[in-house]
Amino acid sequence: MRKRLLAGNWKMNKSIAELSSFFESFSKELANEKRENVEVLFAAPYLQLAEANKLASSLGIKIASQNVHFEESGAYTGEVSIGMLKEIGVNATLIGHSERRQYFGETDESVSKKVEVCLKSGMTPIACVGETKEDRESNKTEEVLKTQIDAIISKLDDIGDLVVAYEPVWAIGTGLTASNEQAQQAHAFIRSLFTEKYGKEVSSKLRILYGGSAKPSNIEGLLEQPDIDGGLVGGASLKPADFAEMVKKAL
Ligand code: PGA
Repeated sequence: MRKRLLAGNWKMNKSIAELSSFFESFSKELANEKRENVEVLFAAPYLQLAEANKLASSLGIKIASQNVHFEESGAYTGEVSIGMLKEIGVNATLIGHSERRQYFGETDESVSKKVEVCLKSGMTPIACVGETKEDRESNKTEEVLKTQIDAIISKLDDIGDLVVAYEPVWAIGTGLTASNEQAQQAHAFIRSLFTEKYGKEVSSKLRILYGGSAKPSNIEGLLEQPDIDGGLVGGASLKPADFAEMVKKAL
């Protein structure tokens, strides 16, 4: 059985000062729930990570970064290494979010390197893939997903605790969500690519999250799909009550 994972992606939101009231309200909302069946994680901006981790760890919540560099150290102005994140207790990171691909020159190649070094360093990579509206409209969804996934797994003999997030670009922050069927189809396709390379035993353990305007009103239908193991949630993770409601639905 794959344990569900609900991951919030705060993007460039939330000040350090806001964190303690956020976690207080969030944990109050879930005070009467037994949460052991669902893993909860927030991907916070770099500067917020240390404080977020301090507040979240006692609540059984994980904190991840939103990016990382693949080199250990060196002349990479503005970048943060895996070692630096681990030093403050952060052991997971998003990789290749579509906003990083779109605005910051992230490529399949850099995503592949990052995933590889994360796995070697005991850092959980949450690797993001997804097609654009044009890809979908020209029936290229599977082709694009295959290219992105092939790049990620090309150098991996073992996928360790890799998590994949399927995030159709046209659904991110747009209010448009993939239908349950569209999402399931993409998730099943992604899982089949892992089955081809690593076999059924490995692929059946891989967690694949759905992202793209996931919210309290649609998360249940998505999670009912056999290949959807959780969510990567942007907008709806900024409000503690909304995200807590999604966690309750995932339980
Ligand atoms: P959204 O963002 O939930 O606001 O669409 C999801 C994401 O970008 O991870």
